[in-house]
Amino acid sequence: YPNELVACKRGSPLLLGVKETGDMRTDINVESDLSAEGHHGKPTEYYLASDANAIMEHTRRVLVIEDNEVVHMNDGAVHIFKFDSDKSRRLLRPASVQRGLSTLEMELKETLLKYGFHFESDTDTEVIPKLAKFVHDILNEDLGSNGGDKQVVPFTQIVMEVMRQLEGAYALICKSPYYPNELVACKRGSPLLLGVKETGDMRTDINVDSDLSAEGHHGKPKEYYLARDANAIVEHTRRVLVIEDNEVVHMNDGAVHIFKFDSDKSRRLLRPASVQRELSTLELEVEQIRKGNFEHLLQKEIHEQPDSQTMTMRGRLIRGGEQKAKGILLGGLKDHLKTIRRSRRILFIGCGTSYNAALAAIPVVEELSGIPVTMEIASDLLDRQGPIYREDTAIFVSQSGETDDTLQALEYAKSNGALCVGITNTVGSAIARGTHFTNAYTSQIAVIVMLALALGDDSLSTQQRRTAIMDDLYNLPSKVRDVLKLDKDMKELAALLMDEQSLLVFGRGYNYATALECALKVKEVSLMHAEGIVAGEMKHGPLALVDETLPIIVIATRDASLNKQQSVIQQLKTRKGRLNVMCTEGDAEFMCPDRTCRIIEVPKVQDCLQPIINIVPLQLLAYHLTVFRGFNVDQPRNLAKSVTTQ
Ligand code: F6R
Repeated sequence: YPNELVACKRGSPLLLGVKETGDMRTDINVESDLSAEGHHGKPTEYYLASDANAIMEHTRRVLVIEDNEVVHMNDGAVHIFKFDSDKSRRLLRPASVQRGLSTLEMELKETLLKYGFHFESDTDTEVIPKLAKFVHDILNEDLGSNGGDKQVVPFTQIVMEVMRQLEGAYALICKSPYYPNELVACKRGSPLLLGVKETGDMRTDINVDSDLSAEGHHGKPKEYYLARDANAIVEHTRRVLVIEDNEVVHMNDGAVHIFKFDSDKSRRLLRPASVQRELSTLELEVEQIRKGNFEHLLQKEIHEQPDSQTMTMRGRLIRGGEQKAKGILLGGLKDHLKTIRRSRRILFIGCGTSYNAALAAIPVVEELSGIPVTMEIASDLLDRQGPIYREDTAIFVSQSGETDDTLQALEYAKSNGALCVGITNTVGSAIARGTHFTNAYTSQIAVIVMLALALGDDSLSTQQRRTAIMDDLYNLPSKVRDVLKLDKDMKELAALLMDEQSLLVFGRGYNYATALECALKVKEVSLMHAEGIVAGEMKHGPLALVDETLPIIVIATRDASLNKQQSVIQQLKTRKGRLNVMCTEGDAEFMCPDRTCRIIEVPKVQDCLQPIINIVPLQLLAYHLTVFRGFNVDQPRNLAKSVTTQ
């Protein structure tokens, strides 16, 4: 087999490194295509080694070969097969293994460990300063520095080299003993603001955009502030610069310059010209930052969900070509997935909206992990001192990460020896505190679905299902954008419902949580009584409430319980219920042939992601109801957004 090579492993490690040659871009996304001519038409080089160190200098894109996989190279094309799990004579599956390449982080940490770095924590964050030191030493060595006090390589260059290696969202502020009077800050995905204050007098309205040096053109000394959140700066100054992705802020002896990564990501990292952009004034901009072009923050949050979804998946959903996804990378959990897979039970624990988000996602966690999953309201678990065991994995869901009930439940689960995992605020929603967390609800669901995918990714039998979910996750932001077009319809519906006393919302299966969350939002912001009811319970009591006056929403999008929901609609119609039916696009006629219901048609996605789509029009309904009813949209009565007391 002269042009072939076969590699395989059991027990020992084996890595396949993939490098696109033709230019020096080692960061091109090649996971969709392992053939010698990648989808960028670049020839590809492959490396096989037992150790990331042997590959690192050639490429950072690797595939970790697993036991019983067989790598086959033939005339430059690479395919990976897997042993049939039934160990029969037909060893190869007809379909080859499709897995996303991984980049750095773990490999990076391993490399750093091998070069003698010690880590005090399991956080990804700790990798960053260690990597910076590593880069510093290597670059200085490359440039023949004798290790004296004078630094040959600029601090900015080191930070940018570090940024080039990182995936995911972050904002960094870097200080180093090697560069005593300097500070470098940068971001990707997460927000970062530079506040500028002229001291000496209180005129904060002076235009200083042309000059950010410590002695501005008015000769006034300046103070600078770096923060994720305008709220943190506003008490010091109202003049800010919103730092953008791939920009690098460099402070040196009080002077500030901003550089930008070269967009072609080539080796020459610095644009020769620094970035010139006007400062914005927070007085106007605070409103804009917080509300954008919207009238209320809640409205903005609802409409920003395509972006918050994109942000949630960035760096976690590994993308292939052609609108496809290829894998899931959950950096923080990577090392714990095996332990979680071995647990006897998974418990999700949270309060309010976070509880609902977990409830929406547990069916798919059960399905893909094969582990029994239960839900706990944090306060109720504590009240009951419910049983938790060492063999349990307890997953705490909290948007703020500060909720007292949830934190106490965490202490309780820890003291019982369970493996504890936290899912907290999505990266990018830095101004979440003091906001509604509307977008965090949908992001939490997406994160838990990704967790389910990661837990299930050792199973061949669910591969097709997982691929379908990942593809829909990939396209979710555009579907959310589509469903937001229902704004006008939901405003009309709100106008019809604004004077009502109460609203019933029926859902089941994946969308029981949607019913609960809709009711919670309607109660919380519009101060109208609303109740989310699992539709299977309708005939066990709530049906008695139904008459021609009480408004009802039935969520009946296509999934395994569609027929049952149809029969619920039928029974409600028999009682002359005032029906609003949420159904899948194109199903209006089928769900309500006599056209006596008001219809909310939404785009179809995989059942486990449907709650993310379905809640959006209901959030819009809650918003418009509140405006019509004349309540303060952005300050729900009696509620603190982070419940830090008992
Ligand atoms: C409702 C809402 C609350 C919170 C709950 C838990 O819109 O925001 O129900 O979800 O207080 O808060 P976190 O998620 O921060 O633990």
